[in-house]
Amino acid sequence: MQTPNLLKARQRTNEQTLTKTNEYIVKENLKKLGLKKKYYIKTYGCQMNEHDTENIKAILEEMSFEETPTMDNADLILLNTCAIRENAHNKVFGMLGRIKHLKEQNPNLIAGICGCMAQEETVINEILEKYNWLDIVFGTHNIHNLPNILYTSINKKDLEVEVLSIEGNIIENIPVKRDSKYKAWVNIMYGCDKFCTYCIVPYTRGKQRSRKKEYIIDEVKQLIKQGYKEVTLLGQNVNAYGKDLPEQYTMSNLLEDVAKTGIKRIRFVTSHPWDFNDEMIKIIKKYDNIMPYIHLPLQSGSNKILKLMGRRYTKESYIELYKKLKEAMPYSSITTDIIVGFPNETDQDFQETLNVVNECKFDSAFTFIFSPRIGTPAAKIADNVTLEEKNQRLQQLNELINKYSKEANNNYLNKTVPVLIEGTSEKNTKMLMGYTDTMKLVNIEGPKKYIGEIVNVKITDVKTWSMDGKVIE
Ligand code: 5AD
Ligand code: SF4
Repeated sequence: MQTPNLLKARQRTNEQTLTKTNEYIVKENLKKLGLKKKYYIKTYGCQMNEHDTENIKAILEEMSFEETPTMDNADLILLNTCAIRENAHNKVFGMLGRIKHLKEQNPNLIAGICGCMAQEETVINEILEKYNWLDIVFGTHNIHNLPNILYTSINKKDLEVEVLSIEGNIIENIPVKRDSKYKAWVNIMYGCDKFCTYCIVPYTRGKQRSRKKEYIIDEVKQLIKQGYKEVTLLGQNVNAYGKDLPEQYTMSNLLEDVAKTGIKRIRFVTSHPWDFNDEMIKIIKKYDNIMPYIHLPLQSGSNKILKLMGRRYTKESYIELYKKLKEAMPYSSITTDIIVGFPNETDQDFQETLNVVNECKFDSAFTFIFSPRIGTPAAKIADNVTLEEKNQRLQQLNELINKYSKEANNNYLNKTVPVLIEGTSEKNTKMLMGYTDTMKLVNIEGPKKYIGEIVNVKITDVKTWSMDGKVIE
């Protein structure tokens, strides 16, 4: 059993991360372990987790497991968890109640959790105490070892915990089963060294490790060959890409090299305003296949709170960057993340956040109530904002954000914009759906032959969170 340790997870060394191309192996005797067995995996949280799930699915299928869309007939259930806020935790523990019930009916069922929650010391202690009927627990650093973890658990018929606190090498040969045939996540880096005071990610995902450019470029070239139209370059803090590499190679260099591959659409998430430099803006502007869409978390509009959050920029420098981006790309969308109710946030601080929103008029925003995460510095500050105040601030903020989302969408009415058609709309399968270059969701009238294509769509109606349109043939 290997359990996580918060102090170790916080450590950072200057040791160079190694790249391994043969560390993931499924031994011959494990290739049939899942024969005639079905797996169900549920993913919580961010795109990084979704992409990890794509890896886990491929690994399980290399062991002959088959995917099932429902939990009820599964032989293996995995929850790929998120630790970012308390409610993500609660959802997982709620789900474990349901799984326990299924396990009582079917003792051969294998049940496990993985992902960020598995990296948390307190969660593991709780699992060992109250949920020790689970079969496997593994973390974010050892997905490649899943075949062996599963095998060990099945053989010893006991809970197998393998969570490493310290990240290892970058492993390049993990297979992937992508959810989409047209757009793909491409990891460019793992971990984060920013240590914003509220955030658990630097502990659950480890130190920043950038993937070498040749592997990234190769992956994009392969995707083009397979017919992919869009890649999203993934990292917790993509603008810091390359800072840990021995050679001088930055996010701007990478963006330029990915743009030169000729892939039709490039996106990247998530940006930290601190590392967003002029060179990046120049490259985004220069290449038409880098999409005019930037997710730029603000977190707070109060300099006092930003300082407490350890964000290392001010509201003035955020606004300056925002304006530079808009000047360079007048047709673009900029979205953000905002936390309300951080400890010591006064009405005045909150008002300053609203002021920045009024100035930037974001296309949309993810808004959150601060959730103390055990082990982070912010969790040690007295939480002196009442729940009522937090809820009231969230509601007020959401109303303002929605107003600007609708206003931003209004500008699209009767305009023709490029949309990558991803498939049929969930609500109405006679309609198509896709995203504009600026990442606006559009429900579209048009023939299915356009699925997988980037087509011109005329916007016929706009709402707060989506638009309607018609394919222009
Ligand atoms: N409480 C509330 N929101 C948080 N986020 C990260 N950590 C916390 C926390 N402890 C939000 C930030 C981040 C987004 C992914 O989640 O806004 O940008
Ligand atoms: Fe968390 Fe800050 Fe790193 Fe983003 S940049 S993952 S908010 S520590």
